[in-house]
Amino acid sequence: MQNSDVITDVFHCRPDFEGALSDELHHAGQGSLFIETICPGLVAVRHPPGCALKKPCIFERQRIERAARIPLSELKPIADETFQRVMGAIANEAKTWSIQAFAVEDEDGALSRRLKGIVNTLLRLMKKQHSRRCVVYREAKTNVGHILQLCLTPTGLWYGTMAPADMTDLAVGGHCRVKADRWAPSRSHMKIEEAFMRMGEHPEVGQRVIDLGAAPGGWTYAFLKRGCHVTAIDSGPLRLPETQEGWGRVRHLRSDGITFTPEAEQIPVDWMVSDMLIPPGVALGLLRKWITRGWAMRVVCNVKIPQQDPFTAVEPIIDYLAQQSSWHFAVRQFYHDRREVTITGTTDRENYEGFSI
Ligand SMILES: C[S@@+](CC[C@H](N)C(=O)[O-])C[C@H]1O[C@@H](n2cnc3c(N)ncnc32)[C@H](O)[C@@H]1O
Repeated sequence: MQNSDVITDVFHCRPDFEGALSDELHHAGQGSLFIETICPGLVAVRHPPGCALKKPCIFERQRIERAARIPLSELKPIADETFQRVMGAIANEAKTWSIQAFAVEDEDGALSRRLKGIVNTLLRLMKKQHSRRCVVYREAKTNVGHILQLCLTPTGLWYGTMAPADMTDLAVGGHCRVKADRWAPSRSHMKIEEAFMRMGEHPEVGQRVIDLGAAPGGWTYAFLKRGCHVTAIDSGPLRLPETQEGWGRVRHLRSDGITFTPEAEQIPVDWMVSDMLIPPGVALGLLRKWITRGWAMRVVCNVKIPQQDPFTAVEPIIDYLAQQSSWHFAVRQFYHDRREVTITGTTDRENYEGFSI
């Protein structure tokens, strides 16, 4: 293969998970890809044309396919030739486009500030050179023909243009931020809100929910405020805000979530959610039980992942879920997950908008 034939895709992940993402990419490409960590939070894959990985990876937040890099030294100032390289692909596009710019995480936010300056300069030059037909969107727009993604790292700016439908996530950099709710008993509620967003499904009034590992109550609160009936399982106390109405719809049981069996008249519940931070093997047993017995229509299960070989640890879960033909499952490390991944699944195929494996 000629060097000029090689295509580079870059994948953005949570810092510290480059190894897990690389293992996953190796697995998906059956070892035929050249994979290297560029910096914390960014992995590059070099491959021959036509070998792009279609499905989003568990540990991938965002990708830029057919990416190129400009060293930082060439960005101050931005020369005409650099501008043409970055903006060339979209500058001559008749269709609408937008820019999504993100930086890999750094300690003091200096990269993000620098990125702002770079984007402003590019947009100024763009307006100057294409003033008649350039529409500049400063926020993420997804109803556009192309999205130019920019990813700033400590050594350079990666860029590439993709159609919105090919992107891993429509949130900029895959940073699917959820607004904190000041009444929520814990920050954990952001994980369940992210799950609703990613599943494209929100709980409805009157739905029945089993929340395993519920205390102090962030997930329970997210369901209650939407009018659901929740059975919350945890030996610890719930700390639901006193000011909210509707708490009559929660039943708190101090039982073990792993061995818990729902009552016959509850089955199938609309949602079984688990945030017990259980290891992958225990999560697999729990899911197997709930799925084979038909106890739930939807599941959201947060799984704690080990320091060593996180991808290998979750592989058995993926293999099992892939065999469940009447379910649509996704396994992803959410933006709000730390050393965890979240499994979402639904039997409601028609309305399902998430990724399936
Ligand atoms: C991360 S916290 C859950 C946070 C909760 N989702 C929220 O939003 O506030 C984990 C909880 O799981 C509970 N837990 C762990 N193992 C459990 C088990 N086997 N059965 C029931 N609860 C369990 C712990 O007591 C702890 O309260």
